[in-house]
Amino acid sequence: MIAIRDLSVAFGGVRALNRLSVTLTDPIVGIIGPNGAGKTTLLNVFSGFVQPQGGAIDAFGTDLLAMAPHRRARWGLRRSFQNEQVVDDLTLADNLRAVLDGLPRAGRRDAARQIADALHHVGLEGRAEAMGASLNAFERRMAELAKTLVGAPRVVLLDEPAAGLRDDEVDALRQAIRGLHAHCGAMTLLIEHDVELISSTCTSTVVLDFGELIAFGATAEVLQSERVKIAYLGVEAAA
Ligand SMILES: Nc1ncnc2c1ncn2[C@@H]1O[C@H](COP(=O)(O)OP(=O)(O)O)[C@@H](O)[C@H]1O
Ligand SMILES: [Mg+2]
Repeated sequence: MIAIRDLSVAFGGVRALNRLSVTLTDPIVGIIGPNGAGKTTLLNVFSGFVQPQGGAIDAFGTDLLAMAPHRRARWGLRRSFQNEQVVDDLTLADNLRAVLDGLPRAGRRDAARQIADALHHVGLEGRAEAMGASLNAFERRMAELAKTLVGAPRVVLLDEPAAGLRDDEVDALRQAIRGLHAHCGAMTLLIEHDVELISSTCTSTVVLDFGELIAFGATAEVLQSERVKIAYLGVEAAA
């Protein structure tokens, strides 16, 4: 369970998050909202890129914000980036090994096995020895996801992983995200513009608008709410 309490972030006069409080319990939770709503800022607070002005995040009983960013990775926080961070002159397997090298010994146990399992989970088992530079855009995206699966992750943060992918590629991504919890036990927070991907992977969804929580609950219900349709889907309320 992740309990976010009274989280506030301001950039100058912009309130990117305004006293956000929400408790997340499902294995895959969606985060949606219009551009500028504060979605990426929320993930930046999780990973430590952004310091909030106030509030707390309790993640499975741990005070996340009290930990230095590198300790959060050791604790089990993982993040995929909108721009893939695959190292070109390492093999794909070594890109994953580099993640494990930054973790304590316990997380590195069975490294070869963990790497093989993660690559299999994202459908890249045949590319383990390919150099990073030789991976195509889709493979890089899936490699980025595979990097989040190794080293006993507890919370995986995904920021628009489907951006720029073809429909068949999104289908493969969907399968990998849906199976993530069964694969490694981690809870996933998924930011995504593709509402169909959200509704087919996330049992509950958070909706932000101008840094405020405007809806939270079962994804199907949230997407049906008038307030969400107006703010996010650009639909006018029925007169
Ligand atoms: N590092 C930053 N410096 C200044 N303003 C920022 C910074 N990061 C985000 N913002 C502002 O905070 C608001 C929320 O941004 P963001 O979290 O990126 O939204 P989203 O990911 O939902 O599109 C926006 O108004 C954005 O311009
Ligand atoms: Mg964003």
